[in-house]
Amino acid sequence: MPENAALPQSLHDALLQLLGPTGLLTTASDVDPFCIDWRALYHGKCAAVLRPANTEECAKAVALCQQHNVPMVPQGGNTSMVGGATPDNTGKAVVISTTRMTRIHDIDHADLTMTVEAGVTLKAAQDAAAKEGLLLPLSISSEGSADIGGILATNAGGNNTVRYGNARELALGLEAVMPDGNVLNLMRKLRKDNTGYALRQLLVGSEGTLGIITQAIIQLQPAPRSRETALCAVADAKGALDLFAAFRKQDPSAIQAFEFMSGTSMALVNKLIEGAPLPLSEPAPAYALVELGSPRADDSLRSLMEEVLGTALEDGLVTDAVLAESEAQRQSLWMIREEHAEAQKRAGASVKNDVSVPLAAIPTFIDEATKACEALIPGIRVAPFGHIGDGNIHFNLVQPEGADPKAFLAQDHAMMDTVAAIVRKLGGSFSAEHGVGQLKTYMMPSWRGGAELETMRRIKNALDPKNLMNPGKVFPAA
Ligand code: FAD
Ligand code: MLT
Ligand code: ZN
Repeated sequence: MPENAALPQSLHDALLQLLGPTGLLTTASDVDPFCIDWRALYHGKCAAVLRPANTEECAKAVALCQQHNVPMVPQGGNTSMVGGATPDNTGKAVVISTTRMTRIHDIDHADLTMTVEAGVTLKAAQDAAAKEGLLLPLSISSEGSADIGGILATNAGGNNTVRYGNARELALGLEAVMPDGNVLNLMRKLRKDNTGYALRQLLVGSEGTLGIITQAIIQLQPAPRSRETALCAVADAKGALDLFAAFRKQDPSAIQAFEFMSGTSMALVNKLIEGAPLPLSEPAPAYALVELGSPRADDSLRSLMEEVLGTALEDGLVTDAVLAESEAQRQSLWMIREEHAEAQKRAGASVKNDVSVPLAAIPTFIDEATKACEALIPGIRVAPFGHIGDGNIHFNLVQPEGADPKAFLAQDHAMMDTVAAIVRKLGGSFSAEHGVGQLKTYMMPSWRGGAELETMRRIKNALDPKNLMNPGKVFPAA
């Protein structure tokens, strides 16, 4: 008898033969960690976790699930912010985890590419590139767990999008197991290839609803040989944007990252994360973290940084600043930014609004949304931060101190809708980088309705007519 009775016996036996005992997990203690998301918002159930070791095993496992009409939930590092990789609570689905597909096949110095399996963590891929003097230019706080399949399936953004684009821009080639078990091989290293539909772009950002990404060819860059990083105190988001414009005017290609942190979100990090005190003489209403990078090993970036910051300090645009003088200091400045999500998790329940608006609209957005949320829930802690250089603000709302987390989360739609109404008015998007998952499916009809959602549905139906691949994600219930 299989330990989990929800998996039909014949399917269990076939999967066990195919994947072996390390590739098929069925006991509650083994599968439970795969059924809860990073924020612990969703507690799902599954019949089993399948951990194929390579594309061939993955394809055969998918074909078997297809024959038995078993829903499949692709999962990488399980860091989704929108419950995208968590099964529902019927217990019928299997999670297909890429955590055993961890080979880096090739780093190509002529083409500046890396060929990797989906389960390689972003950090492991970055480290492998760095060892060869190259840069994998995608950086997110979850990179120690998030993997190549997950970042492509969500079209992740992060800290370097302002310079190098989203995951989509980095994916030159891709391989995926489609819902029927066929392998779609798009592993081409070509920068130019106009031969029909760009199918890889359909898979990127599809959040596991169209197939399982098994391998990819990622574009790399020469590693920067000089870098300058500074944390600056500013008055508000407008101040941060003016500083961004000042750097951009001097040399747009030098800006590797430009991040915004509100005083509220910074204070949570300083208070709740060990070893992350504010490295400035006093707290400010807002902060900008700027990083410049260049493949040239000279001091031109230091001059640029000093010139722009000097003028900004003279004009009162920046009221205080700390410049990293060593790699260790640079990393400690980045740690402060990267611990924002963790600090907010520790502060209690929070509602995330991962929105984007045109750059010029950011100050109005933050101002109006703050007032509206404070009016909705007195005592709410509005803690925005994010990738301001891309127009992407994580307008996160933390429960009032001492409030009941469940009661706070019960109002999540009221909060999300309040913020979304302002985003819509300003021409923005309700999800800049985290995706739709299961958290935001209800927003799809009003934001992407009509022909757009209908076209997405037709594509989904054509590729997955039985709706077995990550059901309940992206699309609202029919
Ligand atoms: P998972 O969480 O496992 O899955 C995410 C989605 O992709 C699910 O829908 C899943 O079904 C699907 N999926 C996973 N693997 C595959 C595959 N091989 N084939 C097909 N579908 C698959 N996102 C950003 O964009 N920018 C950020 O700055 C950022 N920061 C974060 C910081 C923290 C602390 C955390 C927890 C998350 C953050 N995220 C960020 C959100 C998250 O989207 C990313 O961490 C990452 O892109 C998800 O990768 P993963 O491997 O964990 O995917
Ligand atoms: C980040 O940029 O740190 C995450 O995407 C944001 C979040 O926690 O909302
Ligand atoms: Zn982010």
